[in-house]
Amino acid sequence: MQSNTILDVKDLNTWFYTDEGVVKAVNGVDFSIPESTTVCIVGESGCGKSITAQSILNLIEPPGKIVSGSITYRYKDGREVDIVSLKPKGSDIRTIRGKEISMIFQEPMSSLGPVNRIGDQLVQTMLLHLGIDKDEAIKQSIALLDRVGIPKAASRMDSYSFELSGGMRQRVMIALALSCNSRLLIADEPTTALDVTTQANILDLLKELQADFAMSVMFITHDLGVVAEIGHEVVVMYLGQVVERASVEEIFERPLHPYTEALMKSIPKLDFDSHEKLSSIRGMVPHPFARPPGCPFSDRCDYCMPEKCLTANPPLEEVRPGHWVRCVKYSASEEV
Ligand SMILES: Nc1ncnc2c1ncn2[C@@H]1O[C@H](COP(=O)(O)OP(=O)(O)O)[C@@H](O)[C@H]1O
Ligand SMILES: [Mg+2]
Repeated sequence: MQSNTILDVKDLNTWFYTDEGVVKAVNGVDFSIPESTTVCIVGESGCGKSITAQSILNLIEPPGKIVSGSITYRYKDGREVDIVSLKPKGSDIRTIRGKEISMIFQEPMSSLGPVNRIGDQLVQTMLLHLGIDKDEAIKQSIALLDRVGIPKAASRMDSYSFELSGGMRQRVMIALALSCNSRLLIADEPTTALDVTTQANILDLLKELQADFAMSVMFITHDLGVVAEIGHEVVVMYLGQVVERASVEEIFERPLHPYTEALMKSIPKLDFDSHEKLSSIRGMVPHPFARPPGCPFSDRCDYCMPEKCLTANPPLEEVRPGHWVRCVKYSASEEV
């Protein structure tokens, strides 16, 4: 593992054993997150983004299971731990959750406790993880609410989450995630439920906090437009697999995988004529039990070469420095 890597996911497989069959939600995923970097995981709904995130926090419950692979977390002092090997309810993973890695979700209502005041949730989390006294925790909580842009932070400490707007709730959720100075923040579609203006404000805030706190962020979204706003590196997922990986600049200058190309065409543009129709990707993500043989994207791909694409799933290959793609168009054995 490289010395600036904070999290390294290798050949991760997280499957669900349902009555109807096995859902390979995450099916051999590889990527890593460097220090002080925002890595965006992008793909349509059902591609395995959330299950990847939940695997990282060892939150998968039956009928789901991490079947194989490793998730190596590197502490500040250089020690490394494989999260997959930890007991899901043991003390090691509980210290990692919150103190090392924190998470925010699409709908903060479900993760902010409805019966507790905002201030109490912040203070309790700090008391649990930071070893400070209550007065100090209150002081730091108010400062943090102020930092994430909550007006009149001190008086908001007594509010309940249902008293706030969606945008304000998401700010509180971010404050809660930051309250233990964790080194990696996983944000799972944190702006999807918000209106466009609030979404832009929250993205700005996350970008600013990432830089100020020199945090790593794993940002999950279905929207490449958001990736352009906030990402440093991009991991494109399709049907439980990584199909392309590169820096944001490289992905936007030179998208290689036909799926990435199709996602690119579906980004709304501000200067778009409102009558012009956005192109959407042909077809649908296949049902988990109806994977096409060979390349999982083959049935929606404009470049599909049946004799090659329907027979084998190509490996993820580095075709330019730091730019990885899983497609026969770029396979080393092919004439490109
Ligand atoms: N508890 C579960 N039981 C069975 N299948 C599941 C379960 N949770 C998720 N899945 C399946 O795993 C796949 C990936 O889901 P998810 O990671 O939530 O997708 P994304 O976050 O990219 O929209 C989907 O096919 C989904 O139906
Ligand atoms: Mg999801």
